[in-house]
Amino acid sequence: MVNVVELKEVSFSAQDKNIIQGVSVEFTAGKTTAIIGPSGGGKSTVLKLSAGLLVPDQGEVYYKNKNVAYMNRTENLDFRREGAFVFQDSALWANQDLFQILELPLKIHFPQMNRKERAQRIKEVTMEVGYRKDLAIRPSRLSMGEQKLIAFARALLCTPELLYLDEWTESLDESAAERLIRIVRKKQKEGVSILFVSHDMRIIKDLADFVIVISDGKLVYSTTKERIANDSELSDYLGMEMTE
Ligand SMILES: Nc1ncnc2c1ncn2[C@@H]1O[C@H](COP(=O)(O)OP(=O)(O)OP(=O)(O)O)[C@@H](O)[C@H]1O
Ligand SMILES: [Mg+2]
Repeated sequence: MVNVVELKEVSFSAQDKNIIQGVSVEFTAGKTTAIIGPSGGGKSTVLKLSAGLLVPDQGEVYYKNKNVAYMNRTENLDFRREGAFVFQDSALWANQDLFQILELPLKIHFPQMNRKERAQRIKEVTMEVGYRKDLAIRPSRLSMGEQKLIAFARALLCTPELLYLDEWTESLDESAAERLIRIVRKKQKEGVSILFVSHDMRIIKDLADFVIVISDGKLVYSTTKERIANDSELSDYLGMEMTE
């Protein structure tokens, strides 16, 4: 199977603390991998390292078999356009309104689009995630759940080949979460590669082809879809029984 992203012996530290230590993992193209593990274990950091948003102190990150550290400008732009990230805290610009926030990736990656085309695309993605309120307001006026919807819409804007989703159903009510799950299923069918962090066993069982466990900054376990349902070691890591 072809890898979309590969981490080789990746370590990362911040403020003299080792956060990730010697993680090696291959993410299969066109498949969905769930990253799970205890709070503070390093899941978000692994996701950001995989997306090139953090730079490892040691080891290498490969995107489509190219070392991210040695990409030229064009390769780097492709890497950034082809992948899209939903941050755990949504990470919407505080001093911009929602329309401006959503317009920015289109301006960067599709400079040929005019304002009317951008507005049309923004309407499509906000409708798709189920956000129907005003776009002329700043993120501070939104609930956490609404912020997640806008963050998800932003990730869909440039029709990514690879989605990085960090705790992407957190703060959402059931129907909004269901809507995003349906979108993810659609993306899976379209062949999009997906790396997601979640604590929700139902979502993991429903969507993941592969599961990896990150704990204490290390990759401690990995398993596959076929084994998820009866994997007692995985349920130990999750600290719960995985019954239907
Ligand atoms: N820039 C940073 N500076 C200092 N410490 C950091 C930094 N980024 C992350 N950490 C620490 O590294 C550890 C792993 O953080 P990370 O956010 O990757 O965990 P996580 O598994 O995503 O946790 P959660 O389930 O709570 O989201 C935590 O202890 C966190 O406090
Ligand atoms: Mg996290």
